[in-house]
Amino acid sequence: MQRRQIIGRIAAAGFALCAALPAVAQDTLKVGLILPMTGPFASTGRQIDAAVKLYLAQHGDKVAGKTVEVLLKDDGGVADQTRRIAQELIVRDKVVALAGFGLTPLAFATAPLATQSKTPMVVMAAATASITERSPYIVRTGFTLPQVTMPIAEWAPKNGIKKVVTLVSDYAPGIDAEKAFIDRFTLNGGTIATQLRVPMANPDFAPFLQRVQDAKPDAVFVFVPSGIGAAFMKQFSERGLDKAGIKIIGPGDVVDDDILNGMGDVALGVVTSGHYSAAHPSALNKKYVAGMAKSGQRANFHSVGGYDGMRVIMEGLKASKGQGGDALLAAMKGQTFESPRGNVYIDAQTRETVQDVYIRKVERGADGELWNVEFDVIKGVKDPTHKSK
Ligand code: PHB
Repeated sequence: MQRRQIIGRIAAAGFALCAALPAVAQDTLKVGLILPMTGPFASTGRQIDAAVKLYLAQHGDKVAGKTVEVLLKDDGGVADQTRRIAQELIVRDKVVALAGFGLTPLAFATAPLATQSKTPMVVMAAATASITERSPYIVRTGFTLPQVTMPIAEWAPKNGIKKVVTLVSDYAPGIDAEKAFIDRFTLNGGTIATQLRVPMANPDFAPFLQRVQDAKPDAVFVFVPSGIGAAFMKQFSERGLDKAGIKIIGPGDVVDDDILNGMGDVALGVVTSGHYSAAHPSALNKKYVAGMAKSGQRANFHSVGGYDGMRVIMEGLKASKGQGGDALLAAMKGQTFESPRGNVYIDAQTRETVQDVYIRKVERGADGELWNVEFDVIKGVKDPTHKSK
């Protein structure tokens, strides 16, 4: 072969390779899923990861002729990591959407990046109401604490609970839950004996439970993030507060389905309000719980935020024909669908999930397991803190 011919062939091959590369890249749409897969909140990561995989296994990973690839990254629940990972996913991987966010500080840290890069950011777990106000690119598929707390503040005074001590984790979602509960409960004639705020990481509940005991309330209103409830329940029963007749109420986080079975009899009879129970009696939920069980998970309330979040992304991409940015954001807003929790819609103005909130009681089922059994429902609950525009 002539020298010129050889050079020509190499050039042609190189050109073909270059032409092929963007084609390969275009065949894939990447979604960055950032979760705490290690550390004290790893249960949230495990649940959401399994739920996202289940959604794709059931519905397929193709949209607009392309394959959706989920890039799972572990932030260990540390905000600086979340921000660094999000930056890489946006700049290097060119993701069409960010998703996950197991804790409020992690969502707060990432919100400015979503705005700057116009990348839709699907918050699947973090539940402080103000998160969606931090960026117009945030869509939340989980819940807000004021949204799920209001119903128990209505229920309690009608059911003999007049005097309450509040005990919350001392960070944004705890403060949200405390305020929502106190405002509504006192409006309904209840009194607050004491307000307690417990450190978020590695909490020792003993000194706080002593103060609960001293105040002799009808009930303690508790918010601790998913994963921490078992430690609270253990110390509550060790100190005999259940025997002293003090009830536990709150949003459902303290009786998280993921760890409920390990809590034992102390959890029996605990009444909470929440948007999701693994015991929700619908055909779709039964299928969902069975699907999650195949990957070794007992579906919890954070997992549905992941499952539905993936739905919102996939249907959004279908409608935007694979476009990210503003087109995807617009296609996420206003989606209405049946979730394993019940019917939901994504409010186009607030970018929050509007959903039914249930009143549930922990009971032992015929199978010997503990379940949050729904016995009342408040339909179509919006987050009460967002002003409608
Ligand atoms: C939060 O950090 O926003 C958060 C975490 C776990 C929960 C609820 C809220 O169960």
